Amino acid sequence: MEFQSPMGMHDLFEEDLYYYEKVKKTFQKIANFYGFSQIETPILEKTDLFKKGTGIFTDIVEKEMYSFETKGGDNLTLRPEGTPGVIRAYLEHGFQSAPKPVKFWYFGPFFRHERPQAGRYRQFYQFGLEAIGVSHPVLDAQIIQIFYQGLKELGIKDLVCEINSIGDENCRPYYKRALDNYLKKYQNRLCPDCQRRLSKNPLRILDCKEDQCQKIVANAPQTLDYLCENCKDHFKKLIEFLEEAEIVYNLNPYLVRGLDYYTKTVFEIKADNEKNSLAGGGRYDNLVEILGGEKTPAVGGALGVERVIEYLKEKKLEKVSKKKPLILFAQVGDLAKKKSLKILEELRKENISVVENLHRDSLSLQLKTADKLGVKYVLIFGQEEAMKEEIIIRDMTTGNQKKAPLKNLIKEILKKI
Ligand code: HAM
Repeated sequence: MEFQSPMGMHDLFEEDLYYYEKVKKTFQKIANFYGFSQIETPILEKTDLFKKGTGIFTDIVEKEMYSFETKGGDNLTLRPEGTPGVIRAYLEHGFQSAPKPVKFWYFGPFFRHERPQAGRYRQFYQFGLEAIGVSHPVLDAQIIQIFYQGLKELGIKDLVCEINSIGDENCRPYYKRALDNYLKKYQNRLCPDCQRRLSKNPLRILDCKEDQCQKIVANAPQTLDYLCENCKDHFKKLIEFLEEAEIVYNLNPYLVRGLDYYTKTVFEIKADNEKNSLAGGGRYDNLVEILGGEKTPAVGGALGVERVIEYLKEKKLEKVSKKKPLILFAQVGDLAKKKSLKILEELRKENISVVENLHRDSLSLQLKTADKLGVKYVLIFGQEEAMKEEIIIRDMTTGNQKKAPLKNLIKEILKKI
């Protein structure tokens, strides 16, 4: 085969897209109820937006972006995540003066040059939520609740929301210093990536999946012990909201997430203790300012659509149900074929769904298709019928058939269905 789809990127057919639609519709309905409106931003953004927004020391920006220079000399990147683009649009279109919170949802493809493996692709879809302009923890809880309830509605049980607070600019420096001091003692035992992270962004080390690093991290200082009063209070209230909303949560003191903009709350939702998270997000109270706006609190999250679909398929929670067609239109002869296009258009306009085999000439082959599909009626339009402006309606269950004037066809069919 000379050409194949790029590694980690997939062709999607109707049966696949059924699942994408299902996931999108489920979350769209809940998000709309809670006052989120849809936003679609371009798939390409200026590379600097992600460097500044997602963070230059993140794996995404360091290793995973599809970036290129255009013929006009612009440096653009295929969006690896949605949050910086949404905030750019928020600033660009004057939402700063809109009543708060400004709430958006989005659904679309994202691109990361990662090593493809189960649940990890180079092109994948996210359903995302961003609530901008309110610092109250009830918004953090609402974002978590939407993902949690949507996944439950899709039939996924045993959900756990892992949460943590990573503090803010007031308390995080103290935590970072403590972590730094601790990790330096084990510097030589860290993986090469983490040895590099130690000087740039030690928090990333908490995220490392290498055994040797995880052993060291297991006794590292915890963010929660270093929170200032404000962050502590925010986290305590969030927990109270989650409890009231009956969301199963688990405090994970080492959850930091791989993006630089988070402040206070971070969360990930998992099913059945699986390694890969279905959704993740958190609060990002500094990002609007980092991208050139006034300091504005915000919180959001995104769901990995393929991961949810794989789970639904694996547990057989959702099946594609194909509708059986009711009517097959069969034609024989040149004159009938010519007149068929107009008849089919009339049926379509009346919302009568019909399968046709216009490319075929033989009636028996067309009837075979009718048998295969299990249709209830076949319309037979032959040379004689075409000349007399008539059509045969055959009931496939009883084998009875009758001729009707062509002009009465719609009426006759509507009577039957
Ligand atoms: P993220 O954790 O990088 O966060 O991605 C969110 C979700 O997208 C993950 O939990 C996962 O389900 C899915 N995902 C990520 N990478 C891949 C991949 N390579 N293949 C398949 N699925 C993947 C964000 O993107 C943030 N923008 C979320 C957010 C919004 N935070 C605040 N607002």
